[in-house]
Amino acid sequence: MLLAVLLLLPLLDPRPARGHPPYMRLPPSTLQVLSAQGTKALQAAQRSAQWAVNLVAMEIQHRLHECQGPGRPRPQGPLLQEPPEPELCGERRPGTVNVTRAHGRIVGGSAAQPGAWPWLVRLQLSGQPLCGGVLVAASWVLTAAHCFAGAPNELLWTVTLAQGPRGEQAEEVPVNRILPHPKFDPRTFHNDLALVQLWTPVSRAGAARPVCLPQGPREPPAGTACAIAGWGALFEDGPGAEAVREARVPLLSADTCRRALGAGLRPSTMLCAGYLAGGIDSCQGDSGGPLTCSEPDPRPREVLYGITSWGDGCGEPGKPGVYTRVAVFRDWLWKQMRAAPSSREPSCRELLAWEPQADDAPPCAFHARLYCPGLEPLQQKLSTLQATHAWILQVPSERLAMDFQEVLADLSSKTITGLFRAWVRVSLGDQHVVFGGLVGLEPATLARSLPRLLVQALQAFRVAAQARAEPQGAQKGARQIRGLGGQGHRPLGPQVLPARQP
Ligand code: ARG
Repeated sequence: MLLAVLLLLPLLDPRPARGHPPYMRLPPSTLQVLSAQGTKALQAAQRSAQWAVNLVAMEIQHRLHECQGPGRPRPQGPLLQEPPEPELCGERRPGTVNVTRAHGRIVGGSAAQPGAWPWLVRLQLSGQPLCGGVLVAASWVLTAAHCFAGAPNELLWTVTLAQGPRGEQAEEVPVNRILPHPKFDPRTFHNDLALVQLWTPVSRAGAARPVCLPQGPREPPAGTACAIAGWGALFEDGPGAEAVREARVPLLSADTCRRALGAGLRPSTMLCAGYLAGGIDSCQGDSGGPLTCSEPDPRPREVLYGITSWGDGCGEPGKPGVYTRVAVFRDWLWKQMRAAPSSREPSCRELLAWEPQADDAPPCAFHARLYCPGLEPLQQKLSTLQATHAWILQVPSERLAMDFQEVLADLSSKTITGLFRAWVRVSLGDQHVVFGGLVGLEPATLARSLPRLLVQALQAFRVAAQARAEPQGAQKGARQIRGLGGQGHRPLGPQVLPARQP
């Protein structure tokens, strides 16, 4: 390029303008060389801006993917029926049953056999186990509504299914939807239950099996020995259990419960179970887990009558544990599980899986922004990058051509480095900028001055675009240039000529 410029030098046109001082225009051939180089510089600038923006966009995609978990459900193998066939629920594997030690010594009972409670699941918030839950259908887990207090975002929850009888690795499934009972009262724990829809239904190939739901409003009589299970604390304020623990607890009558627990117990939706002597009870971390009672007919099976909800301490004498009565919520449960998918608005996870970049997905955008950790800084980085590179990213690549229209050197302004002050007028698409620079008129000085003119031109377009983006700045920065000769020196900042100027 420089060689070309050198060849063109003899064509420089020293044309003193009328009046003073004398000016000289760079010839069209030199302007062409400058324009070609300028266009290349623009293309490189656009490529690197795009690259920087894409890189952060990819990081955001990656982060979102981590927050969302895997894509659409991909059921493999025959699935459990939805809703469960009665003969497939509540069945315990032979050899896993040892729950009958009613005199278990510790709160939460004794260690369960692996696979003993195929419907018992664990609910994790951002990987942290918080509650138990009960598989009641292929993709539905019943748990306590209070588990989600303050953390209603499905994207953060996962469910770990039951382990197999040989201690097989338990499968972890993302949560698609959380449906707390609409009348759950976090102050009183009234109606403390929630349905959780799994992202992927449970396969029959795995160890997980649903429990049976009560078929009618009838509940087993007081005194029936039922079972509780979970990973909850071994004593009040104690650590959670490493492995599932289980205990047998007798159901207590509504009167006994009222007397023991006072007005806080609402017998219409809560039942209590345990020992007035204390010692065996569910505890923190067991919430949402099952209270099941065995029923002999039509075949031996476990039926879910309670969801662990609250207690006054754990295993305290005179303070049995409180469970949400499942039988009274039968209708609500079936209605939720049978509802056609189209009767609900898509869940946040569904929206994200279908249209990962949809801007018109407010609940998702909301959740993703609020709850996907690490996402917000990335989004900020992206918008900063987009703003700083907007000037070049907005130009369609086919219009990305720099056109040096005029370089007018003031012959009276020679500096000690042998350069002359010059007015430079350049266009990019329909934008024009005018700025002052320094240009050499000898072969060596000209070659030296050109790269700097290119840099200045790029800068001028950037500043002009920023000024356009901030209307006040644009007004300040924009000046009308009527002619380039004969008006003496001007400040050397870039000047914007609006598009299609008359
Ligand atoms: N609310 C507790 C939880 O979130 C369950 C407490 C059960 N307490 C009892 N004494 N039974 O895990």
